[in-house]
Amino acid sequence: MSAVVLGVSAGIAVYKSCELLRLFTESGHDVRVVPTRDALRFVGEPTWAALSGNPVTTEVWESVHEVPHVRIGQNADLVVVAPATADVLARAAHGLANDLLTNTLLTARCPVVFAPAMHTEMWEHPATRANVATLRERGAIVIDPAVGRLTGADTGPGRLPDPPEIFEVCRRVLSARALDLAGRHVVVSAGGTREAIDPVRFIGNRSSGLQGYALARTAVARGAEVTLVSANVALPDPAGAKVVRVESARQLREAVLAAADHADAVVMAAAVADFRPVRQSDTKIKKSSAEPDPIHLVKNPDVLGELGEIRRAGRQPYPRVIVGFAAETDDVLANGRAKLERKGCDLLVVNEVGDNLAFGTPDNAAVVLVAGGESVEIPPVEIPRGPKEDLADVVWDLVAARLA
Ligand code: CTP
Repeated sequence: MSAVVLGVSAGIAVYKSCELLRLFTESGHDVRVVPTRDALRFVGEPTWAALSGNPVTTEVWESVHEVPHVRIGQNADLVVVAPATADVLARAAHGLANDLLTNTLLTARCPVVFAPAMHTEMWEHPATRANVATLRERGAIVIDPAVGRLTGADTGPGRLPDPPEIFEVCRRVLSARALDLAGRHVVVSAGGTREAIDPVRFIGNRSSGLQGYALARTAVARGAEVTLVSANVALPDPAGAKVVRVESARQLREAVLAAADHADAVVMAAAVADFRPVRQSDTKIKKSSAEPDPIHLVKNPDVLGELGEIRRAGRQPYPRVIVGFAAETDDVLANGRAKLERKGCDLLVVNEVGDNLAFGTPDNAAVVLVAGGESVEIPPVEIPRGPKEDLADVVWDLVAARLA
């Protein structure tokens, strides 16, 4: 059981924090809620007290004999501020201590997670950008807000991510404790591409996106700025990741290359179609056509190979670590080793597919092949069957070591 401080500042998204609190208490954590004065205009003190089972105060002047302005922060294993308004980010960035929450932020020596929520204009204002950059520089995790419907009719970046996704980041932060990707930008591709035959049909594959999403989620929890290039995935957006949606291999290539330009690492977990139909019909192909036309295929660009190629050509700045995935059905290690070299990546995570492994399941098992020098063969890292998030953490361990 960990001691968690849930800081709540005054935004309309406060109602979602009740669910976040619930997720913490139901998984056995001891939660102390520290709202700002105005946050109580949205959800009152009795709700927080009843749901947390702990006293709730916004002031430093109550129970002074317990020195709450220092003790709450000192005793915390994690402080999460959700929602974090532009005002609270500003006060935290400038080290103000004008209420119990900001005192707590100054005395906490544990990981601190901010989940901002505000209107797009406020989030994008240079003042807020600078405050977020300052907090990140100091090691706080600031989860990028989700994009979507805001308080009124407007939409854009600024929504509080869904509570289960914020909880997931916090859970990982509590278990890992390592913020070894803080200040790093990583790009993850996930899912499977679709190559249109006509407006209704496509050539696709079985990738669910679970492994790529686990990679994105774990990277956020380790402090990275994450761009997730997502191809046809029906999973909730991981909190804090910038999600770029694509459909085809060519769209995925464009999105990955654009994001890779200023990234420290790229992990290609997506299943990218090797071929696409030469011709795509603008209208639905009708069954009435007497003989169906054969579908002729043409090769798609190899995105991973291209990343390796660009880096070899010495164009800067370019990702220092490139990670590929390979699904193999036979001769797993030999095929993997050849692929690692052919594609010019640093790490290749090789899955054996079949036997209920890999596609659409929460578990995975793999070996990671590591590129050495000309004549060095570094022994592969074996990852036993387990949750895809464990595999993701091993990949980030190896990436972080290479970036260090
Ligand atoms: N990949 C890619 N672009 C493609 C095909 C694959 O970037 N057009 C990436 C995948 O994201 C994965 C890696 O390459 O990280 C290996 O994919 P895999 O399908 O195993 O390799 P292929 O190049 O398709 O090789 P083969 O078909 O010979 O197994």
